[in-house]
Amino acid sequence: MVTYDEETCTQAGPSGIMAPSPRMVNTMSLRAIGALAAVVALIPLTSGSATAPVPNATSSAPADTVEVTLTASATRLSLVEGVETDVYAYDGRIPGPTFEFEEGQHVVVRFRNDLPEATTVHWHGLNLPFLSDGSPFHPVQPGEEYTYSFTIRPGAAGTYWYHPHPNHATGWQVAMGLYGAVVIRAADDPLPSEYEDKVFLLSDNKFDEDGSILVHERTTLPGIVDFENGREGDHLFVNGEELPTVTIRPGEIQRWRFLNVSAGRYYRLALEGQPFVHVGNDGGLFERPVEVDELLLATAERVEVLVRGVGEPGDRYVLRTLPYDRYIPQTRPKDWDQPRDLLVVEIAGEAVDAPPVPERLRPIPKLTSEGEGDDQVMTLTQGFINGKAMDMGRVDATGVVGETQVWKIENIVGMDHPFHLHGFQFQVIERNGVPEPFRSWKDVVNVPADETARFIVRYENYPGKWMFHCHILDHEDHGMMGILEVTPAEEDGG
Ligand code: C2O
Ligand code: CU
Ligand code: CU
Repeated sequence: MVTYDEETCTQAGPSGIMAPSPRMVNTMSLRAIGALAAVVALIPLTSGSATAPVPNATSSAPADTVEVTLTASATRLSLVEGVETDVYAYDGRIPGPTFEFEEGQHVVVRFRNDLPEATTVHWHGLNLPFLSDGSPFHPVQPGEEYTYSFTIRPGAAGTYWYHPHPNHATGWQVAMGLYGAVVIRAADDPLPSEYEDKVFLLSDNKFDEDGSILVHERTTLPGIVDFENGREGDHLFVNGEELPTVTIRPGEIQRWRFLNVSAGRYYRLALEGQPFVHVGNDGGLFERPVEVDELLLATAERVEVLVRGVGEPGDRYVLRTLPYDRYIPQTRPKDWDQPRDLLVVEIAGEAVDAPPVPERLRPIPKLTSEGEGDDQVMTLTQGFINGKAMDMGRVDATGVVGETQVWKIENIVGMDHPFHLHGFQFQVIERNGVPEPFRSWKDVVNVPADETARFIVRYENYPGKWMFHCHILDHEDHGMMGILEVTPAEEDGG
């Protein structure tokens, strides 16, 4: 069995709190309305309730700024029927509120940490200034506030999420309930607005007999297994509910966004009775839809798919996660080869004629680099990148604003590792020597056991220190993480 070197898991680095200068928001009323408008009740999806987009109240404002608040606190909620559990929650719910923003909008998030410990809010996948990344460089202490502010880049429309990112405690805080979705919309969205848009956050958890969230001590055998595999739970949740039901009308087409917000579990999604029309990945829509029978979501990955209402009212179909072997044999869970039901899809209501799926979605410019070969090579082992655990005081890779680089990620151990880069969306070029069949924007690439992936990324803006890491949270917390420092372009003249 592989063991981790606890010695290298040091708490290091600057811990000063730097609050980005708050941008002025236009008026008091805008502040109030904006906060309401941006938080859209896409969840929970009890009894098949529809998403209800709220019109953007700030669209007529001179500066398109939207301000929202977010609070993390310790509270008690019922996650499984009949028991109350001590949890951490954003705005008192799990998942946290789904934020809906538009390309071009300036977003100000006033965050308050009411937890008994330090935390951060990381905006996973978004291109934003370093000070608003919510990385371990900028912890927010208990009782303190922090303002995250960023402008949504044109072309960013897609499905993102937010979660804590404190050094060595991300897995713990996510297990306790801290995660939520961010949906970015484009004014020129190519998909018909008639397609109802639904967001599904996929999470898992496990509980003690008294209903409390079970996080094993690392020194115990189950703790070692969780550390090795990434903690998985036997309870599977879709938007915080076990096996919920959603409805779709006969003939209807719905647009579904799946987010894997689990710490270690992968989802191999398949829907009974029909293939998925896969239209997007982490960073938004493809150039063209692709039909697939199943979709693998490594931790932190997102997809957008179109699903049809096939059949008669009363028909029911199950969305399942199929077995996927990402494990080393020694710690493979006993039930790894069992499919699990996630969601029931019920055909209900009157038949409709859905507008057809467009053949073209949006252009994705091809990234090319001037250099030859790989600018960054990252070798993944169990808990380490290039043989090292993260050191907040070390820089592992460098780049310059405006530069385009090719990264090669080689996994030389017998377990999958999902590799994530902060701050910049990339394009996967090839996996194991096989060219990627089509372009898409990604911020996580799963690198299967003993395989290699290459991606290309442009650091189009925002100097700073950007984390890259395995998104199995136990591996990340151990230090399977490094730092890319992007420095300003010299021509900028400072
Ligand atoms: Cu989803 Cu470094 O994070
Ligand atoms: Cu991230
Ligand atoms: Cu890993």
